[in-house]
Amino acid sequence: MRAFVTFLGCKVNQYETELIIEQLERAGIVVSPDPTSVDICVLNTCMVTNEAARQSRQYLRKLRRLNPNALLVAVGCYSHLDADSIKKCGVDLILGNKEKREILTYINEWLQKREQKVEVSQPNYEIDERVNNFLAERVRAYVKIEDGCDEYCTYCIVPLARGRKIRSKPVEIVVQEVRNLVSSGYKEIVLTGVNLGRYGRDTGDDLTLLLRQIFKAVPGEFRIRLSSINVQDISEDLIEMFKINEKLCPHLHVPVQSGSNRILKTMNRNYTVEQVLNLLERLRSIDTDFSVTTDIIVGFPGETIGDFEKTLQLVERAVFSRVHAFKYSDRPGTPASRMKQKVPPEEKDRRMKLLREVAEKVAADYRMNAVGKIRTVLVEMRKNGVSYGYDEYYVRHELVSTSVGVLTKVMVRKPNGAGVVSQIAGLERNLVE
Ligand code: 5AD
Repeated sequence: MRAFVTFLGCKVNQYETELIIEQLERAGIVVSPDPTSVDICVLNTCMVTNEAARQSRQYLRKLRRLNPNALLVAVGCYSHLDADSIKKCGVDLILGNKEKREILTYINEWLQKREQKVEVSQPNYEIDERVNNFLAERVRAYVKIEDGCDEYCTYCIVPLARGRKIRSKPVEIVVQEVRNLVSSGYKEIVLTGVNLGRYGRDTGDDLTLLLRQIFKAVPGEFRIRLSSINVQDISEDLIEMFKINEKLCPHLHVPVQSGSNRILKTMNRNYTVEQVLNLLERLRSIDTDFSVTTDIIVGFPGETIGDFEKTLQLVERAVFSRVHAFKYSDRPGTPASRMKQKVPPEEKDRRMKLLREVAEKVAADYRMNAVGKIRTVLVEMRKNGVSYGYDEYYVRHELVSTSVGVLTKVMVRKPNGAGVVSQIAGLERNLVE
């Protein structure tokens, strides 16, 4: 039997997609990178915004068209929260976030009965799963260390699908998982979670302690990157880790959402713009190039031109190296969806465009500032003699002739598109023109 398995949305979904692939492979199913002519299709869905939900539906319909007789399975947040919409896309099995761990049981049952089934139970399961590989990226692996979110951001639907209870993977299991991936050759491990900064709240551990254990117990050449983490969860201890540990990438994704304290309050974000700026100052006192990427929502209900301008100012002052801009989207059941003073769609579009312009200019300045510096690139792809990869600051590099999967010391020559062109440090002839 052959299967096609893919995902939309966040890194946690990406990690869990790898878990699904490994379950299928253990059962002797061949997982194909090509969605045509397969017996089973699995989509790990997303519904963080209306757009993500639309893409999930579209993808499911496409998979159905490509494989009219195959078993079509939808798992993940969208199928967890809105099975009825998913059903309309011709899906056979609609499974929630907990059920994706036992996907084989449901697949076997379907193969026998061939009956449509919806199975969604509460998502607060304990996490102890491990991946062995990360085929989608080959050189970089994601490790989910936490699930669930106990915050109440007024726009966000994710806790409903992921559970309100913080559940952390035990330190020993994370260490084993990382050790195993590193010994298989993965050079970058990205720690990820639904609310990463809350790691250990349930077990009495914390992120800093976990990082110390990883660095102590995992031998070999590798680096660790943290994925999205909230301002209020970045402790002084964690900041100190960046100072002393070269294996920790000097990059954080800190989703600020808005540059207006008034809007942050109505979003229920529990921090202020001043706290964001203080944090950045601390990080850059450790490393002047410390890279901070962010998420911003434009057009939140009640966002005035003045509020939006504050967001633009924050982007400039913060020198974000990358901004993921989201248009505010009403999510069913959230407090924000019931707020008045919705920003009209054309105005949201206009603000998106302005934000993207400012963000691109700021990011271009950030890349320009890298010129002449020595960076370490993890080469992830080679095409026509040119190698591509990201450095520790999450800047994308283009360089000549190095092998995939190697951490390579380079010197940045010039900015190029959304990244930079670099050369192997010390080798003047390795140029990409
Ligand atoms: N509308 C727009 N963007 C949203 N996000 C979460 N919920 C919404 C929503 N209702 C964005 C936030 C978050 C990212 C993962 O998705 O910016 O950080």
